[in-house]
Amino acid sequence: MAIRRIVTAEDPVLRERTKKVSSFDASLHRLLDDMLPTMRDAPGVGLAANQVAVPLQVAIIEIDGKLTELVNPQIVKSSGEQVDWEGCLSIPGYVAEVTRAAKVTVKARDRHGKEFRVKGEELFARALQHEIDHLNGRLYIDYLDSLDELVHVREAEDEVTEETAAGI
Ligand code: NI
Repeated sequence: MAIRRIVTAEDPVLRERTKKVSSFDASLHRLLDDMLPTMRDAPGVGLAANQVAVPLQVAIIEIDGKLTELVNPQIVKSSGEQVDWEGCLSIPGYVAEVTRAAKVTVKARDRHGKEFRVKGEELFARALQHEIDHLNGRLYIDYLDSLDELVHVREAEDEVTEETAAGI
């Protein structure tokens, strides 16, 4: 396992639509195995493969000690609305308030190619939407009317949880 470099917002790889994974082989497993220590080291609670410059539909989320590995994830159902602070490991030091669906159901494959569904709400739902956006070349700042809405995480620290401040 190795820690890979996380690219920042100006890198064009974050604006590409990533490619579907078709072989669930050792190189996919190596990527996933590297993404975990990379995310933890950052530290963060979510990471998409294009954030480590690999344009494939692969992402991981780790919240409350539960790791979810997502390959070729797709939102199949979403409902409600939540507004909360959100940050991203590719936009270090900043957060903004972003409106997201309150609950989502995601269909994905695991590292062996087996299909599964996962339901999320609150921060997990936010992270699922954030990571799937990454895989479609979208960043949370795209939802803001102006970059003036970005707040330095230190200025928002009273309102922002440690997990949110860590970034997804
Ligand atoms: Ni992010």
